[in-house]
Amino acid sequence: MSVLPLASSGKITVPGLLDRKTQTRNSSEPAAKIACLTAYDYPTARLLDESGVDVLLVGDSLGMVVLGHDSTLPVTLDDMLRHTQAVRRGTKRALVVADMPYGSYHTDVAEALRNAVRFIKEAGAEAVKIEGGERRLELIVRLTEAEIPVMAHVGLTPQSVNALGGYRVQGKTADTAERLLRDARAVEAAGAFAVVLEAVPRELAAQITRELRIPTIGIGAGPDCDGQILVLHDMLGLTFDHTAKFTRQYANVGEIMRGAVRDYCEDVRGGTFPSDAESYHAGQSASLRKPVSAAK
Ligand code: KIV
Repeated sequence: MSVLPLASSGKITVPGLLDRKTQTRNSSEPAAKIACLTAYDYPTARLLDESGVDVLLVGDSLGMVVLGHDSTLPVTLDDMLRHTQAVRRGTKRALVVADMPYGSYHTDVAEALRNAVRFIKEAGAEAVKIEGGERRLELIVRLTEAEIPVMAHVGLTPQSVNALGGYRVQGKTADTAERLLRDARAVEAAGAFAVVLEAVPRELAAQITRELRIPTIGIGAGPDCDGQILVLHDMLGLTFDHTAKFTRQYANVGEIMRGAVRDYCEDVRGGTFPSDAESYHAGQSASLRKPVSAAK
């Protein structure tokens, strides 16, 4: 029985991502950039995975784009476990990373470790993400000792919205840039396998990317990072509020959905849905699809 994900299978792994960074640093031919997106459910995870996304982050942005909260702070451990399980079921190739929600790693290290283990054992995550730099040193060391790969997240950390006084670009002054650089160095030294840089000046992100041996994943951090991540709902036009300058909208799925639903309502009200061909007839044998609603 083979238990190793074969390199040739194309499965994205933590060592594979580290190898890409090594290649980028050591050879004149940089490795392919790491394409990451957030995912929260089975169908979108499948679509993203089959489309070649390298890393699926079950982000706690779930709270805002799926659950309708106005920050990520109310997201619970149970919310994240449930959605990580769904993403896991839809993913074969991509690396599945689960965001640890606010409160699940802020009290003590032992509890944080227990919570992280749940993401691996119960939800099938292959790594966890935690926000914060130098102040997470001990936790990152303990998680990596427990064989849990850690993606760190520095710069604008949305779980610190109250402490930061809003969602603002970080590291714009010499002092704050120096602090951010220390954060990035600290998470690498503690054993993180990658670091998300959110909302930091391009020049600073480039400097961090040059210095670190682990991949940097940018969101609002310019094009020089080793990879990029966007919130899926933002890039698909499935959000309702103003999106940040760094979000590129690749499709307007919201408008497609509105159009389809308007057509459906019109057809139902006009009596053109369902048609006779979409109806069963007495005495005919018909095989039903999986028993979603058809079973009754
Ligand atoms: O929760 C999330 O979606 C994130 C990404 C924006 C990096 O943390």
